[in-house]
Formats: sequence, C-alpha cells, structure tokens
Amino acid sequence: MYAVVADEIPYLTPSFGLLSLLSDASFYKFISDQASGDQQSIQSVIMVSVLPEDKTVVIISGTNKGIGLGLLHKYAALPDHIVIGTVLGQADEIECIIGTGSSIIRVEMDVTDVEGPKRAIKELQSRYGITKLDIAISNAAILTSQAMARIEDIDPQAFEDHWRVNVKGNLLFFQACRPLLRAGSKFVFISSGAGVLDRVPDRQNVCYGITKIGATYLARYAHFEHPELIIFPLWPGWVRTDMGKLTAKHLGLDDGTVTVSVDESAAGLQNVINNATRETHSGYVWNYDGTPGKW
Ligand SMILES: NC(=O)c1ccc[n+]([C@@H]2O[C@H](COP(=O)([O-])OP(=O)(O)OC[C@H]3O[C@@H](n4cnc5c(N)ncnc54)[C@H](OP(=O)(O)O)[C@@H]3O)[C@@H](O)[C@H]2O)c1
Repeated sequence: MYAVVADEIPYLTPSFGLLSLLSDASFYKFISDQASGDQQSIQSVIMVSVLPEDKTVVIISGTNKGIGLGLLHKYAALPDHIVIGTVLGQADEIECIIGTGSSIIRVEMDVTDVEGPKRAIKELQSRYGITKLDIAISNAAILTSQAMARIEDIDPQAFEDHWRVNVKGNLLFFQACRPLLRAGSKFVFISSGAGVLDRVPDRQNVCYGITKIGATYLARYAHFEHPELIIFPLWPGWVRTDMGKLTAKHLGLDDGTVTVSVDESAAGLQNVINNATRETHSGYVWNYDGTPGKW
C-alpha cells in the first residue's frame, strides 16, 4: 500500500481527507495519470512510506529481450515481488503473469551512459519509493558480428564498444545499486563460459570473452569488498536468444544447435540465485544448472 498526501487528488473521495492509502495498481495509475497531466499537481503530492518490507525487490538490467526478459517473467510470477526491469530506450509492451501482491516497474537505463544507472536508481527512489534491492542481476551485454574475428583482425572500435557495455556497464550498474543493497542482498554478474581462461578457444570471441572475464573479475573483487553481501558471476548456458543464435551462425550452425531455451536458462538462474548463500556461492563462479563454473 502507498500513503499519498496531496492538496487535491481527483481519485479520492472527500471522506479520505488529505491522506489516503492506495493499492499498488492504483498508485501506478495515479502517478502515470499525473505525469501526463498537470505537472504542478505532481509537485503538490508528497509520497511517504511506499515500500512494505515484506516485498522482495529484484532489479534486472537489459530486459527488453532474451535472458533478461525471461528472468523478468520468472520473478514477476512469484508472489510479493517488485520486479524492476531496465530497458535500453523505449520499453516494448509485454504480457506477463504477475504473482499475487507483485508488480513490475520498467525503467529506462543505458549502462554506457556514465550517469545512466544512477539516474535510473534515483528515478526508482523518487518516483516509485524503492528503498532497497534484495536481488540485482547485471544482465545487459552485447555481442556483435564485428567482434568475431581473429585477434589480428579485431576492429579496435568493436573491442572498445564491447568493453564499454560489458565491463564498464557492469561497474556502473553495481555502483548505482550499491547504496540500496542491504546485508544479505544478492548481486549477480551474468558472465559466460566464453570468459574462462583455462580452455582451448573454440571460436573467435576474444572481443566478447575478455569482457566476460572482466565481469567475473568484478564479481570476485566485489565479493571480498562486501562481506555483508552475496556476490557471484553466473553463466546462463548457451541460450536461444539473438546473442546465442549469432554465435551459432558464426560457427556455421543452425539455431537448433543452441541447446538451452530462455525459459530453461531463466528457471535455472533463478534457482541458483535462490539457493545462494554467502558461505556456499559468494565469490565463486556458477553455471545455471547449479554446477560450479571455472575461472
Ligand atoms: N545467449 C547466450 O548463449 C549467452 C551465453 C553466455 C552468456 N550470456 C550473457 O547473458 C546475458 C544476456 O544475453 P542474451 O543472450 O539475453 O542477449 P540479448 O538477447 O542480446 O539481450 C541483451 C540485452 O541487453 C540490453 N543491452 C544492450 N546494450 C545495453 C546498454 N548499453 N544498456 C542497457 N542495456 C543494454 C539489450 O537491449 P536491447 O533489447 O535494446 O538491444 C538486451 O535487452 C548477457 O550478459 C550475455 O553476455 C548469453
């Protein structure tokens, strides 16, 4: 429930006076209607105590498609969750099963914009009253066909572009979320088997793989810097998303060879995150099926 104090709120009956409690749905309707209407009346609204402690708040970056969208669906279907999906640019409309007492918030965020993640978090605080994050999943990343080349042929611009999104983007997202993470909160860096040093390379993905080593490295360091949090890198498997299919195409394989569906990957990731504790998981790399990963 949301407590809203205002001079004049058209939805409220006079008997409510200046203070009223709104359900999640009517609160969001109220805010969005106000946003499209008279700006002056927005400023006259004071919002207090918006977030019940018993809701689990989850934020996932890059949720317009692929694994991020799959995770959004999985978490939204659970009861008593507030699921925040960040989107690059305009959010596509989605149909989603929402668990009892749960809600979805979609907020714009470009992880390559130095101020982008902080701005998104500020919006979540001021507009939606978010005061904590129980689970944060840093999922947004890129892999482009220009990136797939032998080292001697790598385009420096493609190299830099991947670094900016996949490493610096992870850093900025962690920095922005950090003030809202509480003792016991979980921060997951979605990494990849492509970021394993101890393997014989089987494809031309240096440009991407080196950034996934970066994500894993950030997770390992953050784990040691924050003994009160649960932080680890997590592999989603080879998944039938635009990114997964691009890799197949590069290898001359068809989409059917990409073994894991988005639903299967998201279910596995959610399961690992759910079971993760500081003692068992934090600081180590994990696979979506619950098996340990490699460095
Ligand atoms: N698919 C696989 O087989 C596989 C394997 C191992 C690891 N992974 C990792 O899993 C994660 C998800 O991959 P995916 O397969 O779901 O990829 P995807 O389908 O390409 O989705 C990536 C998401 O990241 C968003 N994104 C890209 N640049 C961004 C930016 N600058 N700021 C904010 N968001 C941005 C994209 O936004 P738009 O929708 O606007 O483009 C998209 O929603 C990534 O970290 C990837 O490295 C994937």
